[in-house]
Amino acid sequence: ALIHICFCLQHEQGRFLCFDHLTFWVGNAKQAASYYCNKLGFEPLAYRGLETGSREVVSHAVKQGKVKKPQSLHPGSEMGEHLVKHGDGVKDIAFTVEDCDFLVETARERGAVIVKEPHTLEDKYGKVRLAVLQTYGDTTHTFVERSGYSGSFLPGFHPPLFKDPLLAKLPSGKLNFIDHVVGNQPDDEMVPVVDWYQKNLLFHRFWSVDDKQLQTEFSALRSIVVANYEETVKMPINEPAMGNRKSQIQEYVEYYGGPGVQHIAMNTSDIITAIRNLKERGMEFMSVPDTYYNQLRENLKNSKVKVLEDVDVLQELKILVDYDDNGYLLQIFTKPVQDRPTVFLEVIQRHNHQGFGAGNFKSLFEAIEADQNARGNLTVLTPNGISKNM
Ligand SMILES: [Fe+2]
Repeated sequence: ALIHICFCLQHEQGRFLCFDHLTFWVGNAKQAASYYCNKLGFEPLAYRGLETGSREVVSHAVKQGKVKKPQSLHPGSEMGEHLVKHGDGVKDIAFTVEDCDFLVETARERGAVIVKEPHTLEDKYGKVRLAVLQTYGDTTHTFVERSGYSGSFLPGFHPPLFKDPLLAKLPSGKLNFIDHVVGNQPDDEMVPVVDWYQKNLLFHRFWSVDDKQLQTEFSALRSIVVANYEETVKMPINEPAMGNRKSQIQEYVEYYGGPGVQHIAMNTSDIITAIRNLKERGMEFMSVPDTYYNQLRENLKNSKVKVLEDVDVLQELKILVDYDDNGYLLQIFTKPVQDRPTVFLEVIQRHNHQGFGAGNFKSLFEAIEADQNARGNLTVLTPNGISKNM
């Protein structure tokens, strides 16, 4: 394990408080919102579209715990091009901030590209100050300063027009907040992206055992986690590493058409109930073989940490465990949530453990590789760079 001792920079003024919401750009916001509600336990939060006077954009905002996700549809050309290139995906990661203007000025002085200058949106519930910055690929960050705003989401949004009677009959998803958001980069672009966060947002490299090369027999990746001063916003940044087959990070980059959000982890305080309920709702998760749990039982016999949950139940639900001497985490990953093998989701529960599941990467990747192989993408890499299907 590697340990990083970092020097953390604090803004003189203003700060990043937490993830505010994620914005997906999708081909059909109505159906995407319904998927997140039906399969993952989100609830309609707010809406804007033709009926509410929004002539160009349709957005459905859905919420669970503190997790908010608007889905948007722009008929305009920028969104059309984005959809052709990337398919459905995460366009924007928004942070709740204090002093939006100061944070934007700091980032601008340091060379960040400001997509939308600080501006104020207002309705009868109050004002919100917003700005948009460019980050990796076509992905952006919105800074949201919502001091005193009492509306449900953002100015311009209205209550949902339709209440789906099915949702009240389904068991709770039990997801509370966004734990971390992971970005995939092409080869050799991880460090420049990490530098961008350090330089422009004053984020630091987060203490983590994940900052190293992770590999299976076939493929490999590198990952570095960046976090804000208070460590309430954590973003692992991945890149593919050379293995003898194509890395799943490379598969992502090819299908997404460049860098982008790979997965969103949502924190729960009761992963067993959450996963039981989400499986009952028909959510599809990655699976590991039973040998993983045989090995886990053996390893836990010699460990200082005591896993409170029944390992038989974790095995039944295929929930993964990672631990050190002081604590452990429980996690599980969904299959990709769109046709392309790009974005997927994670559910995570932490017991005094701040890692990201490095101990599970090998088992997880082997499971992903099985799917990658089924997609015809676990290709052999040859020295001259030409790959062929197995
Ligand atoms: Fe994760």
